[in-house]
Amino acid sequence: MKITILTLFPEMFAPLTSSIIGRACKEGKLEIKIVDIRDYTEDKHKKCDDYPFGGGAGMVMMAQPVGSAIEAVDPDHTARRIYLSPKGQTFKQEKVYELVSYDHIVLLCGHYEGIDQRAIDLFVDEELSIGDYVLTGGELAAMVVADAAARYVDGVLSPESLVQESFSENLLEYPHYTRPVEYRGLRVPEVLRSGNHAEIDKWRREQSLAVTKKNRPDLL
Ligand code: ADE
Repeated sequence: MKITILTLFPEMFAPLTSSIIGRACKEGKLEIKIVDIRDYTEDKHKKCDDYPFGGGAGMVMMAQPVGSAIEAVDPDHTARRIYLSPKGQTFKQEKVYELVSYDHIVLLCGHYEGIDQRAIDLFVDEELSIGDYVLTGGELAAMVVADAAARYVDGVLSPESLVQESFSENLLEYPHYTRPVEYRGLRVPEVLRSGNHAEIDKWRREQSLAVTKKNRPDLL
């Protein structure tokens, strides 16, 4: 899978070069390309934003550099082109499964007050929001989407890591414990040390149901 990220702030993406995602890229399982939108401006001063028509606070990213950058990275429109914006549909786990079915996704990051609507109308397939709050730009949101999708690319994680996790079957994950058996007076639940796998599975399912009921009853 290839993920191309279009941004005015390429230096913000350093976190994607470390940990699991960084390793997957180095091993060639995943390709993440960070592209500076400023490289595509036709303005002689490299300007990429301007005042909004109609007045109002802030600046708007111009359609030309955004459109030219998208056309350069995806000339035949074979990629899924996604604009990160608080106005988009909320990003959920089902969308992650859909995104991993594409060979190439393009993540477009807005900044300032947003992007000239014509660039969105002409070049974008869908808008995604990572939650009901406003960030200073789409960069953190693009990293969230890239990370969530990359986990499902073949070979990035072990298959066992992906089977029982939060949101599979619409339940949150059960609690985990490791050594020592006792920490500050709290003991690991006995059932987890019993070796009885049927009982362990039953306990974990009950715990999943309980935490989902407490924290996210809307999922049930
Ligand atoms: N850009 C600013 N806020 C955002 C959000 N909540 N989701 C996606 N992109 C954004």
